Amino acid sequence: MYNRTFAQMPMNSLFMQKAYIDGQWLDALNHARISVLNPASREVLGTVPAMGEGETVQAVEAADQAFQDWRHSDVHYRAKLLKRWFDLIQQNKQLLADILTAEQGKPIEEAVKEVDYGAEFVSWFAEEAKRIYGKMMPKYRKDAISFVDKQPVGVVGAITPWNFPVAMITRKCAPALAAGCTLVIKPAEDTPFSAIALLRLAEQAGFPPGVINLVTGDAQAIGKILTSHPLVRHISFTGSTKIGKLLMQQCAGQLKKMSLELGGNAPFIVFEDADLDQAVQGAMASKFRNTGQTCVCINRMLVHEKVYPSFTERLAKQMQQLRPGPGEDRQYNQGPLIDDSSLSKVQLHIQDALDKGAKLIMGGQVHQDGKTFFQPTLLTEMQTNCLIAQEETFGPVAALFRFREEEEAVSIANDTPYGLSAYFYTQNMDRAFRVSKALEYGIVGINETMLSSAASTFGGMKESGIGREGGPYGIETFLEKKYTLIGNLTLAYSSFS
Ligand code: SIN
Repeated sequence: MYNRTFAQMPMNSLFMQKAYIDGQWLDALNHARISVLNPASREVLGTVPAMGEGETVQAVEAADQAFQDWRHSDVHYRAKLLKRWFDLIQQNKQLLADILTAEQGKPIEEAVKEVDYGAEFVSWFAEEAKRIYGKMMPKYRKDAISFVDKQPVGVVGAITPWNFPVAMITRKCAPALAAGCTLVIKPAEDTPFSAIALLRLAEQAGFPPGVINLVTGDAQAIGKILTSHPLVRHISFTGSTKIGKLLMQQCAGQLKKMSLELGGNAPFIVFEDADLDQAVQGAMASKFRNTGQTCVCINRMLVHEKVYPSFTERLAKQMQQLRPGPGEDRQYNQGPLIDDSSLSKVQLHIQDALDKGAKLIMGGQVHQDGKTFFQPTLLTEMQTNCLIAQEETFGPVAALFRFREEEEAVSIANDTPYGLSAYFYTQNMDRAFRVSKALEYGIVGINETMLSSAASTFGGMKESGIGREGGPYGIETFLEKKYTLIGNLTLAYSSFS
């Protein structure tokens, strides 16, 4: 039986309230602190240092200093430290999950899964560290040998979101460290404690001082230094498209390398030949993961008119099983929304849909527990001119659109500036390949909606971002390719060879 309470959080040995720079646990230079709320109770969970420009410069300089050695470390050493970090994350899984749920709100079972998911990146990239291959070039000059070598890009600024406070840290840090880069992390203001706990474990794993640094505090001041300091060579950001564009403008001055995992507006298409039980299961898993607060959550359900009534009925039945409540209590499977502005956006999207002719089948209101809990909501007869068709809702709202033709569904699905993830259900193989090719998305799920893993290639097209994380390409973004030619060599024994 689960019996930890938020009041006991300070007892958790990983629950720390300091930043980490150059191997030191520090407060802000001016000792200012900011409060972090528990989104379920709206009570203060703890405080973190309100750092700004000065401390961020300190962290960047420490990371650069550490880079001078770390870049030359051998891959077995990096892999060994990453493996130790992985083991420590696994050993402390429940403590990490408790912190995650307390600051982010997701149900404890989901938090445990996220810790596993996050740990997976560390073990995956511990292996990838050993597979950074260069390339010998074909001989195109008699007297020369040339090759391409891969080198770490340098100090990385990692800016992470609140919806996956563990997994988004490891998805960035593990490949950067494996590549030989050092980091300055700026975790989300709402969820710094998971990141701090992970750094505590990284320290215990033995990463040298300065290799991983973490600053908490004023997002604008920290972001300004990370995007303008010449020693920062790469910015890796997960968050909204709006902030991604702003960071890109700020990085333009020095043409910093960037990887951006931004917003989505995922379509989910149910064709008339779909297995409806599978489709409903997929819809539930994706739409209500983290209470609808993921970039890859379904935002638009496009359902063929022939199966529309049946799909709606089955989905509504499954949605009766959703129970909003505090994440640490195992009887609940839907957490709160992260804050009031998220709640307002959900309300705005629902009202806009209703104003434009949608039908409310269930939910639609703030949950009886008040605060930021919201009733799981089902809307049908959605119109393509509504806000949900244009922007991500980031909440527990299933919105059903009707279609007749395959091409119509694909055209609606692609009619968005976003291109992160898309899903569809069909039993027809031709259609599976045809539709998958036509969808302008970086991630496509056919008869499945749970696609994320350390092995997956995660990232979007269009305004959903630049670059890919995880999988075999995740490390590439942190590596520069260097072409070297050695000339004027005497390579042959005779002039004919
Ligand atoms: C995200 O929502 O940003 C990440 C979701 C995932 O990794 O599955």
